[in-house]
Amino acid sequence: MANRRVFSGARPTGKQHIGNYIGAIQNYVKLQEEFDECIYCVVDLHALASLQEAGDLHANSYEMVLDWLAAGLDPKKSIIFPQSRVSEVSELHVVLSMVTPLGHLFRVPTFKEKVRQQPDNVNYGLLGYPVLMTADIILYKADTVPVGEDQLPHLEFAREIVRRFNNTFGETFPEPHARLTTFARVMGIDGVQKMGKSLNNHIELSAAPQEVEKRVRSMMTDPARVYRTDPGHPEVCNVYSLHKFYSPERLEEIAADCRGAKIGCVDCKKMLATKLNASLDPFRQRRAEFAGDPNLVWDILTDGANRARAIAVETMAEVREKVGLA
Ligand code: TRP
Repeated sequence: MANRRVFSGARPTGKQHIGNYIGAIQNYVKLQEEFDECIYCVVDLHALASLQEAGDLHANSYEMVLDWLAAGLDPKKSIIFPQSRVSEVSELHVVLSMVTPLGHLFRVPTFKEKVRQQPDNVNYGLLGYPVLMTADIILYKADTVPVGEDQLPHLEFAREIVRRFNNTFGETFPEPHARLTTFARVMGIDGVQKMGKSLNNHIELSAAPQEVEKRVRSMMTDPARVYRTDPGHPEVCNVYSLHKFYSPERLEEIAADCRGAKIGCVDCKKMLATKLNASLDPFRQRRAEFAGDPNLVWDILTDGANRARAIAVETMAEVREKVGLA
């Protein structure tokens, strides 16, 4: 396949947190250097499937994209756009639904999870979520998809749909593959669950320095370490796991000092907060600059949608021809 294209999507969840950054955004930024073209999509249609958690789509899209830009996504290199502004994706979703085995959809883990989470609103959109996600990716013939581990079943699903489509109508789409970050998953400050806004166990990228300190101070550490003089176990400590990302140059020293009880959890957290704030400072500055121009985000999204649509229209013309629609 000549073109090497990246596509990823994220639900508009407003201000992003360090879990989003470590798990996804930093990868988005890096891939801009490695690939001919990267497309990053605010999947607002997907968000509609869980309306109660979607909140204000407009504001949440704006805040998320502002964070993306501040983190280094460059609209000159990448296409950044809202999913709903390229309606071809909905048409492709319908066509793909005809080669989608229903049984497979019911087995998708995220669907089962949603059924548990919102038993009163098990809508078709939830079931069809992976079909729409497949449409997202292949509408742009992307072959590389930066996502978290939890999305792997969706990509496996997408490959199956691509194979079915290609077998039925002739070779059209490349099979998309996941590109995982090396950093598996970022736990929340509770140390128990994955970092997430809805659990309020997160640290926002744009949080004020004092807020970052406060949240780091409240982080769960090694539960076996009760007294300052107890030896610590960095391998089970959530503060240490963030040091891996934010203090790579001092990692061995921190681990040894923790094991030897030379530093206490309070010291260790202070170090982390300092590192974290130092890394967030330039981000906060860029964000404030970008926010000074109220049209910036919307102009970027409009331009992105135009560029995305140009590709989508071509793919849909080919799809219509392949499946025999006039
Ligand atoms: N399902 C993804 C998530 O919940 C979001 C998403 C939608 C996506 N479409 C996509 C991710 C296409 C990658 C590619 O995080």
